[in-house]
Amino acid sequence: MRTLITNGTVVNADGSYRADVLVEDERIAAVGRIGHETAADQLSDLFAGLVVDRTIDAAGRWIVPGGIDPHTHMELDVGSAVAKDTFESGTRAAAFGGTTTILDFAGQERGASLRAGLDAWLSQAEGHCAIDYGAHIMVSDVNAASLAEMDQLVAEGVTTFKLFTAYPDRYLSDDGALMRAFRRTADNGGLVLMHAENGLAIDVVTEALAEAGNREPYYHGLSRPALLEGECVNRVIRFAEVVEAPVYIVHLSSRDALEEVVRGRDRGALAFAETCPQYLFLDLSLLDQGWEGAKYVCSPPLRPADHQEELWLGLARDDLQTVGTDHCPFDFVGQKDLGRDDFRKIPNGLPGVEERVDLIFQGVIAGRITRERWVEVVSTAPARMFGLAGRKGAIAPGHDADIVVYDPERKHVLSAETHHMNVDYSCYEGMEVQGHCDIVMSRGRVVVEDGEWLGQAGHGRFLARESSREYLK
Ligand code: URP
Ligand code: ZN
Ligand code: ZN
Repeated sequence: MRTLITNGTVVNADGSYRADVLVEDERIAAVGRIGHETAADQLSDLFAGLVVDRTIDAAGRWIVPGGIDPHTHMELDVGSAVAKDTFESGTRAAAFGGTTTILDFAGQERGASLRAGLDAWLSQAEGHCAIDYGAHIMVSDVNAASLAEMDQLVAEGVTTFKLFTAYPDRYLSDDGALMRAFRRTADNGGLVLMHAENGLAIDVVTEALAEAGNREPYYHGLSRPALLEGECVNRVIRFAEVVEAPVYIVHLSSRDALEEVVRGRDRGALAFAETCPQYLFLDLSLLDQGWEGAKYVCSPPLRPADHQEELWLGLARDDLQTVGTDHCPFDFVGQKDLGRDDFRKIPNGLPGVEERVDLIFQGVIAGRITRERWVEVVSTAPARMFGLAGRKGAIAPGHDADIVVYDPERKHVLSAETHHMNVDYSCYEGMEVQGHCDIVMSRGRVVVEDGEWLGQAGHGRFLARESSREYLK
């Protein structure tokens, strides 16, 4: 099957140019650049006379690599509730928004192996994903056996391990455990992802708030101060530095945390970080509207609006390398209301896998980042960071044909009425955005065209990933 995409502008992280793109079966076979002198409706010389099965006219539109969301939680069981998007519904929604790869999280139960957690996750995901998918593992128990398992898993293509200074009941690792994990990945080529909030200190603040009768959703925001995020980001970067391991901070939410990443990077630490659309667009005041605020309960929490400017600057300056969603949707009615009387019982997490690419594009419209940087943070950098470089994250020969034909002018309104995520509200209800995908291709197959679903559950393949160490500099 040959598809030729003509007349568009290829936008890659390293530059943009007019080019025709030839897709053969699952891969990009060739990119034929077009000189300035070539008429708009003329094919690049490379493809003149070529017989193809389909030609897509991308005039006026951009040809960009499919998005890679490095942080999702499909079907995550948080004990009291299970995240509403299944691997099927969540990957379909991702594709509608221009994302063609997700990296999701398997979880180790305390006392069990990493492998058992991965197997349980695989049994949920396999055969259900509409786009390609890979796994990180959330580690709850660092011991001799799990450290040895890490070596084996890295060799098999599961190269990334999330550790926590948060969630004492389920996931928190002490300093020694963190050091051991960093040391192991320094040796085996893996990468530690850190949820860096001080869970033990947060418990003290939380208890005091609850005892004083402050139990509305807003107090979730106050219970997890940015100071305690900054403190942990500083600490874990220094641990990683001591053993010369790279570290990737997930869902960085605050200026306090960003400042520590910048300080670490300036010292030469191999420190990298991801932020999320919710920290760039939403703020603490949304929690302060009575029960409605429960829609915005996530950890780390939304911060005061004045943190956003610095996060955007962090993205522009490459102090923050990626944008992931931390997509973890719970219905407002029937799930969030488990915490109706007490914010401590509200399932933590927000929906967003469908909106990420378009939301970050608003940064291009606003002049905060270039279109090339947009492609970099939503696709190319996650590919490099997570062992998919050379395969995904660029419009280039030999890469998987994960391609988005993006209309930078097309406007639409974000709403639960029209989104494809399996959740009963949108965090961005009523917000008009400019820019949207017209066509989404996953490994050469058109899965979305003009708002119509043409994909299939089970088309997505599990991604065994390489060590990304050579890119983590
Ligand atoms: O509130 C959040 N972020 N829920 C998902 C779990 C996590 O810590 O990433
Ligand atoms: Zn987390
Ligand atoms: Zn998460």
